[in-house]
Amino acid sequence: MRKKIIAANWKMNMTVGETEGFFKPFLIEIGSEKRADVVIVPPFTALAKAGEILRNVQNVKLGAQNMSAEKSGAFTGEISASMLRELFVRYVVLGHSERRTIFGETDEMVNKKTHAAHAATLRPIVCIGETLAERDANQVEAVLEKQIRGSLAGLSAEQLTETVLAYEPVWAIGTGRTATPQQAQDAHAFIRRKLTELWDAATADKVRIQYGGSVKPANTAELMGQPDIDGALVGGASLDPRGFAEIVLATVKLAR
Ligand code: PGA
Repeated sequence: MRKKIIAANWKMNMTVGETEGFFKPFLIEIGSEKRADVVIVPPFTALAKAGEILRNVQNVKLGAQNMSAEKSGAFTGEISASMLRELFVRYVVLGHSERRTIFGETDEMVNKKTHAAHAATLRPIVCIGETLAERDANQVEAVLEKQIRGSLAGLSAEQLTETVLAYEPVWAIGTGRTATPQQAQDAHAFIRRKLTELWDAATADKVRIQYGGSVKPANTAELMGQPDIDGALVGGASLDPRGFAEIVLATVKLAR
């Protein structure tokens, strides 16, 4: 059984003060719940404060939204894996569609970052997903295959099992338009079949694949109830501590 993993992608939201304000109610709501892995992914500027708050909290981990593939040096504006490790960061979101479309990240860049994350024992959350035009043109599987081959190239089976994938159809991100549970399940099943083909069945069976795109408390149970959906990457709805706790609790209920 794959343990579900629910991550809060705060994007460019939440000051240090707002981060403190989030954790007080959130930690009360989720209590000692640990049947799902919970990851909070604040902006870089709030990581140190979040790490401090979570220092004695066992069941909530910290993630970053991006990182450099380089170790150190003349890369103005970039953040390295070791800088993140120092702040107790365990996960790093890579290749989010906003990074790909707004900041021009390619599969090759995402692949380099994925290797750099593993080298630093950070667990990458690698995002893939098609645009609306690609879906309308029946290109979903071709796009996903290209992103899987490109972004995950060269990973060992062991590294792949330590990698989380996030299937995020671009048309469902921040639009309020969620993929239907069946559309999401079909994409997740396809992704797992591809991993089986490119690695092997035992490895593919262990990889956790999150769904992302307008996840909210009201649609969590039906999405998370799908056999190949192993968690969620939540944007907008993760900014509200009680709402995000509801998403976590609706997910673990299914695990009973
Ligand atoms: P959303 O964002 O939940 O606001 O749609 C998801 C994401 O971009 O990770």
